[in-house]
Amino acid sequence: MSGIDAILHDFAALVRQGDCLPPEARAQGPLRVGVDLGTANLVLAVVDAAGRPVAGMSQRSGGIRDGIVVDYPATVRSVRAMKAELEARLGQRLTRAATAIPPGILPGNAKAIGNVIEAAEFELVEILDEPLAAARLLRVTEGAVVDVGGGTTGISVLKGGKVLASVDEATGGTHMTLVLAGALRLSLADAEAMKLDPAQAREVFSLVRPVVDKMASIVAGVLTRFPEVATVHVVGGACSFADFAPVFAAHLGRRVLKPAEPLLVTPLGIALYPERGL
Ligand SMILES: Nc1ncnc2c1ncn2[C@@H]1O[C@H](COP(=O)(O)OP(=O)(O)OP(=O)(O)O)[C@@H](O)[C@H]1O
Ligand SMILES: [Mg+2]
Repeated sequence: MSGIDAILHDFAALVRQGDCLPPEARAQGPLRVGVDLGTANLVLAVVDAAGRPVAGMSQRSGGIRDGIVVDYPATVRSVRAMKAELEARLGQRLTRAATAIPPGILPGNAKAIGNVIEAAEFELVEILDEPLAAARLLRVTEGAVVDVGGGTTGISVLKGGKVLASVDEATGGTHMTLVLAGALRLSLADAEAMKLDPAQAREVFSLVRPVVDKMASIVAGVLTRFPEVATVHVVGGACSFADFAPVFAAHLGRRVLKPAEPLLVTPLGIALYPERGL
């Protein structure tokens, strides 16, 4: 297992078990917080000064759509409650946080995302593009990072650590659920539950395959401008299917890598912002 996959497994265990790294195991220095306001999930990640996961929490989102805050009061309430819960677990206040947005959203929408963080009484440190947060955790400086979330698919192309292109398309796991619901005449809630059932993953994947093909063709379109990109990193909850990366690789004719716990990569990467003076 790579070191990064091990970090992701540690973080996933903290999130699932509601645990935190004990104070004596934490590096000296301030805790850093990443807040991922997704269409499907709100995720808070806390890391120590050495970048080790300390605690985390995830809950279903309702007030965000494709990087746009559609229910501001509900989102602020949720982030405040999650912050309070994590502070109780940690036995200390959380004061500073970063967040991320889908690439290319309007400045007003990015501002609203930042406002949620400040309304939850965090000092806002940074707002960055979601795929770049993932790239930071994965330590990718060359290649493409594709964040396939609930509502959006963000693509960032990096060379020598610099961003050559950042693109966002309105497709993601919600599209898969819609296609599944349509094919089997299920309610959206039943289709979502079926999609997340590991026992039905093969059948589900065969039905949502056209959505994955479409996502891959969008990424291929962006990458035609970058023939030198050899490796594509896929993250985000919607790439969880076992066959997702192989299907992408076949379309793109490039190496496609998927880390452990793809849903948690972007939130954890957001928390890894450089501290002032470090
Ligand atoms: N095991 C799984 N198999 C298939 N799909 C999954 C799995 N786990 C999560 N998903 C899907 O991943 C999506 C959520 O992913 P993620 O948390 O990365 O999105 P988000 O950040 O909330 O959305 P966005 O970034 O688009 O605003 C949902 O559509 C969910 O159904
Ligand atoms: Mg996301």
